[in-house]
Order: sequence, then structure tokens, then C-alpha cells
Amino acid sequence: MANEYFSEFFRYKSDYLFCEEVKVDDIRQSLESSCFPPSPFFLYSRNQIQKNVRLYQEALSQRGYTSQLNFAVKANPNVAILKEMKTLGCSLTLVSGMELRLALSLNFDPRLLMLNGNGKVDWEVEMAVREKALLNIDGMFNLEQTIRICRNLKCTARVLVRINTNMHMDVHEYLRTGELGSKFGTQIDEMDHMLDAIRNAPEVVLVGLHCHIGSTIQDVDMYRKTVKLMVAKFKDLKTNGFSEMKYLNIGGGLGIPYTKHAARTTKCLQSPIWNTLIESDTVAKQQFKSESCGDMSQYNFEVELKRLVNDGILTEARCSSLISDEGLSSEHPSPVDLVSSFSDFIADDMVVILEPGRSLVGNAAILVTSVLGCKNNGDKNFIITDGGMTEVIRPCLYGAYHHIDLTEPTRDLTGRRLYDVVGPVCECGDFLGKDRFLNTPHSGCGLAVFDVGAYCSSQASNYNLRLRPAEVIVDGQNWTVVRRPDCFDDLVRPYAV
Ligand SMILES: Cc1ncc(COP(=O)(O)O)c(C=O)c1O
Repeated sequence: MANEYFSEFFRYKSDYLFCEEVKVDDIRQSLESSCFPPSPFFLYSRNQIQKNVRLYQEALSQRGYTSQLNFAVKANPNVAILKEMKTLGCSLTLVSGMELRLALSLNFDPRLLMLNGNGKVDWEVEMAVREKALLNIDGMFNLEQTIRICRNLKCTARVLVRINTNMHMDVHEYLRTGELGSKFGTQIDEMDHMLDAIRNAPEVVLVGLHCHIGSTIQDVDMYRKTVKLMVAKFKDLKTNGFSEMKYLNIGGGLGIPYTKHAARTTKCLQSPIWNTLIESDTVAKQQFKSESCGDMSQYNFEVELKRLVNDGILTEARCSSLISDEGLSSEHPSPVDLVSSFSDFIADDMVVILEPGRSLVGNAAILVTSVLGCKNNGDKNFIITDGGMTEVIRPCLYGAYHHIDLTEPTRDLTGRRLYDVVGPVCECGDFLGKDRFLNTPHSGCGLAVFDVGAYCSSQASNYNLRLRPAEVIVDGQNWTVVRRPDCFDDLVRPYAV
């Protein structure tokens, strides 16, 4: 394990992982002495969340148009995080009535809340209408439902229509929401019947267009193409009877660099750069023998390559064509890149709404687990931890990569091995990471799963009657439990009918 890596707010110091100024293992020990399970638990950096929000706000404010930043609650509904978002000036995007209820209970301004959903139950629409929240209309039956409810309540509703711009995204198929065949939204060229219905219903006022093209997006050009289509439609509607149009809700979806540090735990001999180099570079072939590199990670191998450049054995150009350049943020689009991609199209009469989830909280948390033991089964080595798919389902659901590393120096002297890191859940799909080249941890050693701030605790479950874990927020040198872990009573109480 190398020192000083991961990020500004999760860093190794002398091989111990810190969140801001707090040693992660100190929290594990303290939880245990407060009669909570010592692990697993989610650990958030408050300063990372604040920084993520600031990056969006600065990117938007530099553009000079009116904008609204909504946090997508589905990414993480932890109340402490929602309160932080409120303090930072964000509104919220909601996908269910209960999320709306939670937002109202936290005193968010109802008129800035945005209720989404391709299937809403009457009470959910009713609550949004009564509270005068913005409603996203997904299709014709949702529009008819909204008009009916407004008539019954003798209220009007401000609505946006969610359009589908038919963009094919290079992301996991479950995360493509803006292409033909998606269950979300209405094709941009098939919305005339909805527009006619809105024209004829004084109960609904069309105030904007919405689009959410997908999630984990790395290619900001897709936003540019989408917004161009949205703006053309917006202008067309505004000059053709819909004079109240003002919102352009561009959705969320910006990805985060989950694999940024993958070279640290990739075995050199299994890395693509090893194969490329060994096949094509005779000088390097003489320098590196597979026997001596067998124990090396791709990251350490890259360090060695850079040394060859210093020694004049490898050219700089050849070296940089091979290495992964860990840590270069330019490889991954930032909020500034996202906002810059579409800002040319925005006119003075438009209010831009962005509703990111992942890119506001994804990199702000780790899951801290403890190693239960290691085992070998045939040609596979396993690290078995007390955290698994019930806490971090993304690897199992989307084949997603989350970086994993020890939180403390190992007391085991066996050395590095290629491991699958798995949980204790009774499912073959219960894994956190595969083929990770890690130091063999001692039993009880801390292990961190990184970048779990979005879509992890919010998708956590009690499968196998496991207790959903504690959530802790660090702020500088201080930390607070902001969600207590489940207890046995939480599991059985709902059955007492
Ligand atoms: C309508 C809508 N807006 C915003 C988001 C947030 O997306 P992300 O977390 O990828 O930024 C989602 C998530 O799928 C969504 O469905």
C-alpha cells in the first residue's frame, strides 16, 4: 500500500487511512465501545460534499444566467446530507412521495422542489399539487392524472414535460434513460397530443422541459446535443402559446472517476500495459522480466517505467503512451466541463435546473468493513469481509468498479495476492471487487470500499436479515453518527400487525 494516495479528504498517512483529520480505525474502535457493531459503516467527508456543491455552484454562477442546483435525493437520502444541501443553498429533486414528504419536513422551499417519476400514485401527485412543487410530467396518463387531481383539489400545477431526446449513452444499459425504448419520458416529436391537452386544461401550466439522459456519463458532448434539441423545442413552445415557459431541467448524470486508482490494485502481469509493452518494446523487455514483476502492481510498474525515462532508457513519449496517468483530473469531465458544454444555448428567459446525485456525493464516502478471514478455493483466493452486496450493491447490479484497499498496515506476512473481495451474504453475486492485487490482510483488518456516497446506502437492504449499517460524518477532527445502525427490533417490528 502506498502512502498519501486517494483524494483530498480520504488519504493515507503512514499506511493508515484517514477521513479528513480522523483515523478511520479509531472510529471502528469507538463504535464498538459505544455498543454499535464496529463495522460495516458508511463514512462521509463533510468537506468533500461541500466542495462538490461549490464546484457546481461556481460553474453555474460564472455563466450569468439564472440557475437552480437540485440534489437528487435518490442518490442518498441521509437526513444529515439533505440538511447540508439546504445550508449550501440547494433544492431537491424527488422521485417518490416519501422523498417529497421528507423534503417538506426539512423545510425546503416547496416551490423549488421537483417531483419526478414515470409512475406516480395519486397521493404523491396530490401532495405535490397542494404544496405547489414543480411536477415533471412523464407521459400522457401522468398528465391526465395530474389534470384530474388538480380539478378535484381546485388547484393549478406548474408542470414540466420530460422529453426523450433519443441519445444513446455509452453506459451500463440500466443507466441509459434517454434513448428510444426507455420507460422514461416522451419522445420529443411525439408530444403534440400532450401539448394539446395542456392547452385545453387551465389547471396545468407548462413552465418548462426536462430531460435526464442517463447516469455515469463521461462524454459531456451528449449534454450539448441534448440541450440543443431542448432549447429548439423550448423556443418553439414559447412562441406558440406557452408563454409561461422558463425552466430547462437538464437532469443529472455526470459520472465520477471510480477507476482512477485501479492501477494500485491491478496485478502488473495482468494489466494491458504489461502486454502492450512486452509485445512491442525490446528495450523494456530486457529491463522487465515477468519473474521479477510478478509481485508488482500496475501502479508500481508505472513508477518503474518513469524511472527508465529518467535513466534515458525509455522515451518520455513511449512512457506516457503506456501509463494510466493516475490522478490527472483532466481525464474526467468536471461540473465546469458539463456546464460549458451547453451554456452557449441558454438565453436570458431561461432558468437552468441541474439535478445531480452521484457527482455531489459519490466520492464523499467509503464503506468501512472488517476482514472476517481469507480463504482459497481451487484457483481463487478470497477476502471475506463483514460488508457486502447489502451495503454496496453496485458491483453485483451493474458490474460496477469500486476501489478497495486496507485501512491499516496488515499484520499478515504472506504478501500480495490476487483476491476477490466478497461479503458474507448467501449469494454468489455477493462481491465487492474481483481480481484485486492486495496485501493479505490479517483477520479483523479494516478494509475500505471507496466512492460509495451515491446509490449505496440508498439501495442498502436487510436481505439475509442483515442490519443496515451506521452512517458517520467527519468534519475536520470531529465525527458524528448521523444514522444509527439497524437493530433486531427494526427488523421484526413491521411484522407485528
Ligand atoms: C430524473 C433524474 N434526475 C437526476 C438523477 C440523478 O442522476 P445522477 O445521480 O447520475 O447525477 C436521476 C438518477 O437516475 C434521475 O432519474
